[in-house]
Amino acid sequence: MTVHFIGAGPGAPDLLTLRGRDLIAVCPVCLYAGSLVPEGVLAHCPPGARIVNTAPLSLEEIVAEIAAAHADGKDVARLHSGDLSIWSAMGEQLRRLRTLDIPYTVTPGVPSFSAAAAALEAELTLPGLAQTVILTRTPGRASAMPEGENLAAFAATGAVLAIHLSIHLLDKVVAELTPHYGADCPVAIVWRASWPDQRIVRATLATLDAAVGSEMERTALILVGKTLGSADFSESRLYAADYDRRYRPVGAEPRFPEVS
Ligand SMILES: C[S@@+](CC[C@H](N)C(=O)[O-])C[C@H]1O[C@@H](n2cnc3c(N)ncnc32)[C@H](O)[C@@H]1O
Repeated sequence: MTVHFIGAGPGAPDLLTLRGRDLIAVCPVCLYAGSLVPEGVLAHCPPGARIVNTAPLSLEEIVAEIAAAHADGKDVARLHSGDLSIWSAMGEQLRRLRTLDIPYTVTPGVPSFSAAAAALEAELTLPGLAQTVILTRTPGRASAMPEGENLAAFAATGAVLAIHLSIHLLDKVVAELTPHYGADCPVAIVWRASWPDQRIVRATLATLDAAVGSEMERTALILVGKTLGSADFSESRLYAADYDRRYRPVGAEPRFPEVS
């Protein structure tokens, strides 16, 4: 018996990996984390599967579900939205399973920041503008921020910020970022990226507040940084005609001569 932790993606059912889909299809038990996991993903469960929404359960109750499946020798598909490496609460479940000696696997998913960038048709790292993306959040009731992890510190780097779990604090986010990025810095809010009702707001730090409707609560990402609005960036040297590299040797004395 194995518990398969699976990143269920940002919302669109076809943004699930093939491995994730195939694992869901063979697990007689499926535990999924609330409304962010779409029904289209749950549709891959086999007929008769026990399907449990864990949103109202405590960690102990979730582990009890897993332990019961373990006792019955039934594999479990454990679904969390997006990817499992960020804000999934997988870490504490894995720790319990290690203690109980219950085997598990981990299958990645498409994170919401990737889906939001795709919705914006944006490359977040453009040469000369930004080469770093910081995935972060503001403090919440369930999780405080460790010392030193704050928006001002990240903003001081000039990196692109993908701010999760914070749309309800938009005013505060804008106030903290404006001194660092400037009022004209591009911002995008992507609400329910990849869902049928996805919405996008593009603005600047100065104009954002007025542009965002009150209905855009909860499942939204705030993206801030120069690459979101500028066509004025350098091209990567990677595809420059005169750039000598392993896969395309150029010049009389290439660094990586082709072996005949
Ligand atoms: C608990 S975190 C889960 C993050 C998830 N593990 C991931 O890989 O993106 C939930 C937050 O992720 C963001 N989020 C998740 N799905 C989203 C989506 N489809 N569109 C926009 N933001 C989303 C929102 O900021 C939301 O508050």
